[in-house]
Amino acid sequence: MTRKNLNRIKEQTIGYQLKSFGRLWPYLWPQSKPSYKIRTLFAIIATIAGQFIIVAAPFFLGQASDSIEIQITELGLGAVIGSSILILILAYGGLRLVSVMLSEGREYIFAPVAQHAQRSIATLTFAHLHKLSLRYHLEKRTGGISRVIERGIRSIDFLFRFLLFNIGPTLLQLTLAGIAFWIAYSWEFALIAVSVVITYIWFTIVTTEWRLRFRRDMNTKDTEANSKAIDSLLNYETVKYFNAEHYETQRYDKAMEGYQKAAILSRTSLATVNIGQSFLMNIGLVGLVLLATQRTLTGEMTTGDILTITLVMMQVYRPLNILGFAYREIKQALTDMEKMFALLDLQPEIQDSPDAEKLRGDQADINFSKVYFRYESERPILKDVSFTIKRGDTVAVVGPTGAGKSTLSRILFRFYDIEAGSVHINGHDIKKVSLESLRRFIGIVPQDTVLFNDTIGFNIGYANPAASQEDIETVSKNAQIHDFIESLPNGYKTLVGERGLKLSGGEKQRVAIARTLLKNPAVLILDEATSALDSVTEEGIQSALEAVSANRTTLVIAHRLSTIVNADKIIVMDKGKIVEQGEHAQLLKKNGLYKELWEQQKSKN
Ligand SMILES: Nc1ncnc2c1ncn2[C@@H]1O[C@H](COP(=O)(O)OP(=O)(O)OP(=O)(O)O)[C@@H](O)[C@H]1O
Ligand SMILES: [Mg+2]
Repeated sequence: MTRKNLNRIKEQTIGYQLKSFGRLWPYLWPQSKPSYKIRTLFAIIATIAGQFIIVAAPFFLGQASDSIEIQITELGLGAVIGSSILILILAYGGLRLVSVMLSEGREYIFAPVAQHAQRSIATLTFAHLHKLSLRYHLEKRTGGISRVIERGIRSIDFLFRFLLFNIGPTLLQLTLAGIAFWIAYSWEFALIAVSVVITYIWFTIVTTEWRLRFRRDMNTKDTEANSKAIDSLLNYETVKYFNAEHYETQRYDKAMEGYQKAAILSRTSLATVNIGQSFLMNIGLVGLVLLATQRTLTGEMTTGDILTITLVMMQVYRPLNILGFAYREIKQALTDMEKMFALLDLQPEIQDSPDAEKLRGDQADINFSKVYFRYESERPILKDVSFTIKRGDTVAVVGPTGAGKSTLSRILFRFYDIEAGSVHINGHDIKKVSLESLRRFIGIVPQDTVLFNDTIGFNIGYANPAASQEDIETVSKNAQIHDFIESLPNGYKTLVGERGLKLSGGEKQRVAIARTLLKNPAVLILDEATSALDSVTEEGIQSALEAVSANRTTLVIAHRLSTIVNADKIIVMDKGKIVEQGEHAQLLKKNGLYKELWEQQKSKN
């Protein structure tokens, strides 16, 4: 067996998994919330006290039973209940009631702590997900991640409920029963009670593991039958073309047969487990009663003791009924929780360096120096890219699709770290400035705009939560979208649909421009910001964009060269390399790629 396999097996054992349960402790005992510590403490005390009381109660009834016998021998039949007997019986009922009140009352005390723990961990995980890098998010399915969180959170509640307040107390109850038997009667009683319950627990765990196979099998077969049925119905017409209804029904029945077999095994194996459990329980009970009876006959014990022993054992056995289920679910919950903690343990690829400084000011010099970059190890994207943008300048990047233009903006935002070379803003290496200040510094109108499923107003105001309606309308006017929004029945309160799909490409683009104008960043990146617009609208926006980029460092990525002829510098990229750079007129004279692209586009117009 390989080491990896061994490790996997180790990780599946419940003992190993219980370790991650320990990670919940800081939430049960939160340093910042002393009142929650008190709640947790009281919940634990209530649970423990409840177990003491529930074990003590039967002793009162046993005592009552003995007193009844005494009363009969002393007073004969026909007398009324003596007061001592009455008190003992009332004590039995009262103690049982108090024990239930303690364990249910614990909910009142503990529910806020459990909910607080769930919420803290959920929020922590959510915040952490936003810290993880773009690379991580592009590789993971969002649905998968949110399922990990959802299940992880649910598992916390389950673990508190079952491990802390069900299985734990039951084990305590068993221990207390053992001690009580020992003190009140003799060690033999303690030994039988404890060893039988431990055997019972061992038996349940082993057989539950064995049964898991059948359950899994049953689930797989169920999915199989289901997908056959769906596939068959989706192919409704094809089935008709080939008169295959009978064949399809047979196939479905075959799949159902597999399910049936697995389901039968699952049911019968459960019955086997139940019989085994009952066998053990009753052997234990009968053994204890026989021993007690023998001692009663020799006068060492009383019939009341037999009653007490029976009642105590019944109480211990009762919660053990669901042990198989609880074991299976606890195991699942521990796995779910572990997955969530594993998510929390993931180190973000891009992090602030320890001595990160803040990027300040409202002007920027940008310098790319010999930058090499790849998204995936096999495929270099940027090769030896060097250029500078002087403060206040507008630099355009042009080139064929896939050349690496948008990649430049992702690097500037530090969504990815580069492989070699450096990127400086105002002389600061962007790896050495805080991500927060870097990203505040730069505004982008991205190539593909995705919007929140909320109102247009919300989406524009997202750039600055403090912005007033007036600010939002001003930037909307500059982005040439105000009139459109006003023409909608709900105006700025119009919902844009998931990812903004209810807006046209050009409308989305103008929302993106408006919100970037609202952000008012020191560096502006326009990545094909007007590509989805008709030429009239584009011209309208162009002047607005030129106005905002006038004395601001701007990087324009464009396919339509006519929009960038006035740029201070034009960088021509191809296959991840800079092939030419200079002003429009200079580049035309060079007769290179730029000239070629220019001629192509001119001939189209
Ligand atoms: N997350 C990613 N993982 C792997 N490869 C990527 C990733 N993003 C982009 N690429 C690849 O990097 C190359 C450059 O992409 P980039 O988006 O910079 O191109 P572009 O010049 O902006 O093209 P376009 O004009 O079509 O927008 C492309 O070949 C693309 O397939
Ligand atoms: Mg691009």
